[in-house]
Amino acid sequence: MILITGGTGFIGSHTAVVLQQAGYDVLVIDNLHNSEREVISAIGQITGREPAFIEGDIRDVSLLAGLFKTHHIQAVMHFAGLKAVGESTQIPLTYYDNNIQGSITLLQAMRNAGVRTFVFSSSATVYGDPQRLPLTEDHPRSATNPYGYTKLVIEDILESLYRSEPGWKIARLRYFNPVGAHPSGLIGESPQGIPNNLMPFIAQVATGQRKQLNIFGNDYDTPDGTGVRDYIHVMDLAEGHKTALEYCNAQAQTLLTTNLGTGQGYSVLEMIQAYEQACGKPIAYQVAERRPGDIAACWADTTYAKQTLGWKADLGLKEMCQDGWRWASRDNTGQQKRGQDSFNTD
Ligand code: NAD
Ligand code: UFG
Repeated sequence: MILITGGTGFIGSHTAVVLQQAGYDVLVIDNLHNSEREVISAIGQITGREPAFIEGDIRDVSLLAGLFKTHHIQAVMHFAGLKAVGESTQIPLTYYDNNIQGSITLLQAMRNAGVRTFVFSSSATVYGDPQRLPLTEDHPRSATNPYGYTKLVIEDILESLYRSEPGWKIARLRYFNPVGAHPSGLIGESPQGIPNNLMPFIAQVATGQRKQLNIFGNDYDTPDGTGVRDYIHVMDLAEGHKTALEYCNAQAQTLLTTNLGTGQGYSVLEMIQAYEQACGKPIAYQVAERRPGDIAACWADTTYAKQTLGWKADLGLKEMCQDGWRWASRDNTGQQKRGQDSFNTD
């Protein structure tokens, strides 16, 4: 059985689908801070069986001890965490406690139970402001905000753990910009309040929940002046996790650190255009100030992932936007209610 922390969240839920469809048994633990229990039944609808689910917090020592005792867990995929860069600058202690302390508690429970296979959600944020592109895994790391710092620290904790005793099989997966949704339209990304990220914001302009998109700067040193990112379909990312798990399982011990991206950068204007094609409506936008802390451009070198895992992203911008739009435009009253709670035409 594979334990997925944060498994009702965006990336964890898609990975749960891929793992179940590959024949793995999945146990999800999530405190539902940023997701909903209904995701479990949606995973059941897609795959034909619901994963086991425990509502709880990864910082709960006795809950974790009990969970490792009562289930035959072979590996842990660790998605649970807080991820809003802006919020992390306002409540850093909460981020350090949830992300760093949460990871330590989880790793201690694994160690006590003799479970040593761990797949971790790291981020391209660990590269800081890129000194060169595309980003290779040996690019110097840095952090400019508490969220990014938690990823650096957890990466380092995993390295010391790997070196401390034999048998650990650890994958540190550095995601670029995950977007899109499962093609069924049954699971996807559900940001609460005003979306921080580009794609969910564009989606809410398309559904009429927001009046227009603010483009954060059009004077960057990029072909059209807007920020360039490596957007990756969440289903490709989920497949990448399954491949990383299988890679770990095949080693006696390993500390794998790899990018998961497409290697292709798209600008904000290109994303708007592609989304307009997918939803068949114009996306209203205005150019606003640069967002503090943003970088001009970022995309992955995908060579190492191809070499080690034999994995590469298959889905393009069209699928990212079509699948994202299918999810965003679904008839889901719960989601609409939440959207109204936070209605804002900024
Ligand atoms: P998400 O918020 O949709 O999912 C995270 C899940 O973890 C949520 O369901 C939340 O309720 C749960 N959670 C948070 N703290 C918890 C705790 N202490 N105990 C139990 N459950 C807890 O986020 P996501 O986009 O799916 O991201 C998953 C992971 O990937 C995160 O670690 C994030 O930092 C990382 N990541 C995300 C992105 C991105 O752009 N989405 C990019 C790079 C890395
Ligand atoms: N953007 C806008 N308007 C918006 C939102 C975003 O113009 O309303 C622009 C940004 O300036 C940037 C691009 O769209 O140029 C992408 O922005 P996102 O916020 O979607 O993504 P980021 O690359 O800034 O950050 C994301 C995650 C971080 C993670 C990082 C690297 O939010 O947590 O990718 O993996 F660290």
